[in-house]
Amino acid sequence: MSTTKAIVVLPEERAADIRMVPVPRIRDDWTLVRVKAMALNPTDWKHIDYGYANAGARIGCEYAGVVTEVGANVTSVKVGDHVAGFCHGGHRSDHETGAFGEYILGKACGQIKMLADMSFEQAATLPISIFTCGLGLYKSLELPPPDRPAKEPFPILIHGGSTSTGMRAIQFAKASGLTVIATASPHNFDYLKSLGADAVFNYKSATCGLEIKSYTKNKLRYAWDCVGGGETLCCQALSDVEPSKYGAINASNAPDPDLLKRTNQVVEGPFFVLAYNILNEEYEWQDQMIRPPNDEMEFAQSFKQLTLELFEKGKLGFVNISLNRGGSGLEGVMVGLDEMRAGRVSGEKLVYTF
Ligand SMILES: NC(=O)c1ccc[n+]([C@@H]2O[C@H](COP(=O)([O-])OP(=O)(O)OC[C@H]3O[C@@H](n4cnc5c(N)ncnc54)[C@H](OP(=O)(O)O)[C@@H]3O)[C@@H](O)[C@H]2O)c1
Repeated sequence: MSTTKAIVVLPEERAADIRMVPVPRIRDDWTLVRVKAMALNPTDWKHIDYGYANAGARIGCEYAGVVTEVGANVTSVKVGDHVAGFCHGGHRSDHETGAFGEYILGKACGQIKMLADMSFEQAATLPISIFTCGLGLYKSLELPPPDRPAKEPFPILIHGGSTSTGMRAIQFAKASGLTVIATASPHNFDYLKSLGADAVFNYKSATCGLEIKSYTKNKLRYAWDCVGGGETLCCQALSDVEPSKYGAINASNAPDPDLLKRTNQVVEGPFFVLAYNILNEEYEWQDQMIRPPNDEMEFAQSFKQLTLELFEKGKLGFVNISLNRGGSGLEGVMVGLDEMRAGRVSGEKLVYTF
């Protein structure tokens, strides 16, 4: 059996390192990919440090590369195609999935066929933010999609606008014809405006929520929390007379429904999504077995096509990339995980190439 390098959770508690592992065997709905670029997400280090992943699990959720083999049921891509993909790194009962490796298994439904003008490092930044924004903004909060934008703009708050999810959400919300309000540190204000934000507020200000409420004249009906822990700020910003919605994505800082209601009685939510669901595979999450509903995977298939069209029309662009910070390949990824743990990632996406 041939072997390959990957980042693997070690038997010692809450640690991971580069190890030789068997090259995964192809499965019917999956592809084998020669990885060219890997993008980092907070969930990668959380799977290691918080014990979400167990010993032997392979880490990493976002990659771009070249398809080297396809399973019997795969028709969406073929050998030689350039793809960007999302996989469930750190899966507790499927230790062969994980993006941080030389050769990896990627499920076809989690892959996006790269456009001809995309580089591998650009493409690697796409899958998680696209699938999370699709589920969160459009399937869950039911905002007008970019191909049927709002006739009259109405405001949305993207809390954590400089997170990689938030930066993508700003672009999507703008393409949907909305007035986009974001929170971030002041050094990111101009950058977020260049992505499409109409106004940006400093989340470190104690009055941030109330400043947004005043700016939106008590008419804000949607807030999407891309960072977690934003119940109070978002509920202060949301209208207290019109029914409004609060959506969230941070599973390790799960939204508190009681806090929502205590802060603002007309807020509905939390509307919570997990992008892992689009892979349509059962998984264990914080001691519960999750069986994703079929329709989330189906939604993701049409949403990724819509996203590619938006790229072709120039309505979506790439976000800032920090390439090979501290090294390249899997050794670089190990440095990048520490950068994320230390909170040294701001308004950018860490990407590592082989
Ligand atoms: N449920 C899902 O499917 C899903 C999918 C993707 C991500 N997530 C989760 O969503 C969270 C964000 O992930 P990401 O990759 O988008 O983040 P990221 O890019 O790693 O986030 C870094 C940014 O966080 C911002 N930030 C830190 N504390 C903040 C606060 N209190 N308020 C507002 N912004 C703050 C920083 O802003 P400044 O530098 O401007 O201060 C920095 O730019 C993580 O918890 C991740 O695990 C969940």
